[in-house]
Amino acid sequence: MDKNLIKKNYQKKIKLFKYHNKKYYDENISEIKDSEFDELKKEILELETKYKFLKSKNSPTITVGFKPSKNFKKIPHKVPMLSLANAFSEEDLINFEKKVFNFLNETKGKFEIEYSTEPKIDGISASLIYKKGKFITGLSRGDGKEGEDITENLKTIDDIPKNILAKNFPNYIDIRGEVFIKNSDFKSFKDKFANPRNAASGSLRQKNPDDTKKIPLKFIAYTFGYQEGMKVYNQNDFLKNLDKWGFKINPYNKLIKGTKNLMSNYKQLENLRNKLDFDIDGIVYKVNSFDLQKRLGNVANAPRWAIAHKFSANSGVSKILDIDIQIGRTGALTPVAKINPINIGGVVVSNATLHNEDEIRRKDIRIGDTVMVERAGDVIPHIISVDLKKRDNDLKKFVFPDKCPSCNSITVKEFNLTTKKKDAVRRCSSEGFECEKVAIEKIKHFVSKDAFNIEGFGKKIVENFCKQKLIRLPQDIFNLNFIQIEKMEGWGKQSISNLKYSIEQRKDISFERFIYALGIRHIGLENAKLISKYFKTPQNFFALSNSSRFNELLEIDGIGETQINSIKNFFSNKTNIEVLKKLEKILKIQKSIALTKDGPLKNKSFMITGKLNGISRAEAKSLIEKKSGSIISSVSKNLDYLIIGEKPTKRKVEAAKQLNINIINQDELIKILDKTN
Ligand code: IVH
Repeated sequence: MDKNLIKKNYQKKIKLFKYHNKKYYDENISEIKDSEFDELKKEILELETKYKFLKSKNSPTITVGFKPSKNFKKIPHKVPMLSLANAFSEEDLINFEKKVFNFLNETKGKFEIEYSTEPKIDGISASLIYKKGKFITGLSRGDGKEGEDITENLKTIDDIPKNILAKNFPNYIDIRGEVFIKNSDFKSFKDKFANPRNAASGSLRQKNPDDTKKIPLKFIAYTFGYQEGMKVYNQNDFLKNLDKWGFKINPYNKLIKGTKNLMSNYKQLENLRNKLDFDIDGIVYKVNSFDLQKRLGNVANAPRWAIAHKFSANSGVSKILDIDIQIGRTGALTPVAKINPINIGGVVVSNATLHNEDEIRRKDIRIGDTVMVERAGDVIPHIISVDLKKRDNDLKKFVFPDKCPSCNSITVKEFNLTTKKKDAVRRCSSEGFECEKVAIEKIKHFVSKDAFNIEGFGKKIVENFCKQKLIRLPQDIFNLNFIQIEKMEGWGKQSISNLKYSIEQRKDISFERFIYALGIRHIGLENAKLISKYFKTPQNFFALSNSSRFNELLEIDGIGETQINSIKNFFSNKTNIEVLKKLEKILKIQKSIALTKDGPLKNKSFMITGKLNGISRAEAKSLIEKKSGSIISSVSKNLDYLIIGEKPTKRKVEAAKQLNINIINQDELIKILDKTN
C-alpha cells in the first residue's frame, strides 16, 4: 500500500481514538463499546508495529487517560499511574510471556514465572496517599502523570481506611486501587447512568462530596505508587498486607504459574463473571516478584511485567430459526431473527434485529444459518456475522416480502428528499389504519405519554384490546365496551373505573398534543406545535381535508416539503378523515393560545439541559413561552438562565459558568414561573 494512504488511515484511527479517549476519561461518556475501543487501540498498535514510520503523540502507546478536568486541583503523581497492555487470546498471552523470558534472558522450561492474577474491575482507578498511617490526599488517574485532587470525595468511601495503625505500614505510601459501584447498588441509579462504571466515575468527580456520598462507592486496593520503607518483596505478599492493613482486596486474586493454568483460570472467571456483583472486563496478570518487576521495567506507558487479559465482548453463537417481519407505526418493515435461545452475559436472547432488507442482503443472512450474536448494554441484540463454513448447501437466500405481511399492500422504498437517496427501509404502502399491524402501533402512539397520555393504557393493553376487536380506530378508545372488558382476565371493577377515569380526563386536550397524537409521519412534537400555532383552531386544521392550502404550510419555519407531502398523504385518506370527524365530536380540543409577546418573561431567554422530573422538556418550554420567555439552543452571553435537570451536559454547564449565566434547577424554574403569575 502507498505510504501516504497508510499514514492517512493511521491518522484517521488516531483522531477517532483521541476523540473517544477524551469522551471516556473527561466526560464519562462511552459512545462506543469498550470492546470497540480496545479493538481500535489494537489496530493502531498493529499499524505502529508493522510500519515503523507511524508515530503520533496521541497514540495509545503514549497517552494514558485524559488530562485532568478543570474542576479539581491538579497534583502530579510521584510515580506515574500506568496503563496496561491488553491480551485478547491465548496466543497474545504466550507472546507476552515470551517477551518476558527474552527480556530476562531466560529459557522456557528451565525457568518458571509466577503471576499474581487479579480480576480487572471495570471502575475508576484512584491513588491514596498515606503519611504516618493517615490518609491525606487522594488523586484520580488523570493523564497518568497528574491527577485530580478528589480527596474529599474519596473520604466519603467507607472501604477506604482513614487511619492505619499497623506496625509494618510504610511511613509514606500511595495505595492504588479501583473505585466502583456494585451491580446491585447500581439498580437504583439505572435511570441516571448508562452503566456502573459511569455511575462511579460521575459520582467520584462531583464538585460537592455530599453528592458523592449519595452513591454507595466501594474500593478495592491492588497496587502502590511511591513508597518509603516498605518491606515486602512480591505482589502476593503485598496483597496479603493490604488485607491486614484494612483495605478490601479482591477475593478472586490467585497465584498461578504457566500460561495453560492462566487460561483455565480465565475460563473459570469468564463463566463466573455474570454471577459477580461487580463488573469485571478481564484479568490482570502481574509477574509476582518485585525484583523481576524492577528488572523488566516499563515501556512508554505500561509495565513489561503485567498484562490485562480481556474478556470477549458480549456475544455468542446461535442458529437462525426463522425471520419475522415486524411492522412499525410508520409502516416500516423490520426483519427480526428468531434464534435458538442463548445466554449472553446473563441474559437469554431469542430475538436479534436484522435492521432492514439491505442488511440481510449485505450479510447474506439465511434461515438456518449459524451466526454470531452480540448484545451490548441496552442495545437490541444484533447479528455480527454468519459462519459460512457451517452453512448447509440447501439454505436459500432470504427473499424480503414485497407485500405487507399484515395487509398485503405493496411495500415501497421511498426516496428521501434530504439524503437524496432511496431509503434502506421498506414500508407498507397503506396509509395507516387499513393495515391492522400499523393501526395497533398508531394507537399505541395515540395513547402514549407525549400524546394523549392516557394513564394505565399501556402497549400490552392496546394490543389486547385490538386483538379482542374492542378497538380498531382511535375514536373507539372513547367508546369502549366496558361490560366486555370486565369479563376479560385481569380486569376488575377498580381497574375499569380507573381506566374510565383516565380516558375521560384526557378528552380535554391541547391542540398541539392532538396533532402529534395523529401520528402523521414526520410530524413530531415540535412540528405539531408549529402547526397548531399556525392554524390556531382545530377547525382550520380540519379544513385541510377539502382545501388546497397545503403549500401555505411552507410559510411555517421548520416545515418543509417532506412534512407537507406527509400531511397531504394523511388528508387524502378516507379513514383518516373519518377519524378526524369522529374525534372532533368526542373531544374538547383547545384552541392554541396565541402567545402574548409582553408576558412577564419578555426578553428573558432559557435553555434546558438534562432530564426534568415529572414534566417533559416540551411542556417546560411551552410554560416558558406562555410567559413570553424564549428558548434558545446554545449557551452564549445572550442566555439568561440555564435550567439543569438530571444528567445535564457538562459542557453546557461549564460554558454557562464561564459566562456567569444564572444556573437554576427545576424547582427554581417553577418558582420563577409562579412568581410571574
Ligand atoms: S495494576 C501498572 N491491577 O486497569 C499497573 N490495574 O488498564 C497498572 N485495574 O488503570 C494498574 N484492576 O483502573 C491493576 N488488579 C488490578 C486492576 C487494575 C483493574 C484497572 C486500573 C488501571 C487499568 C489498566
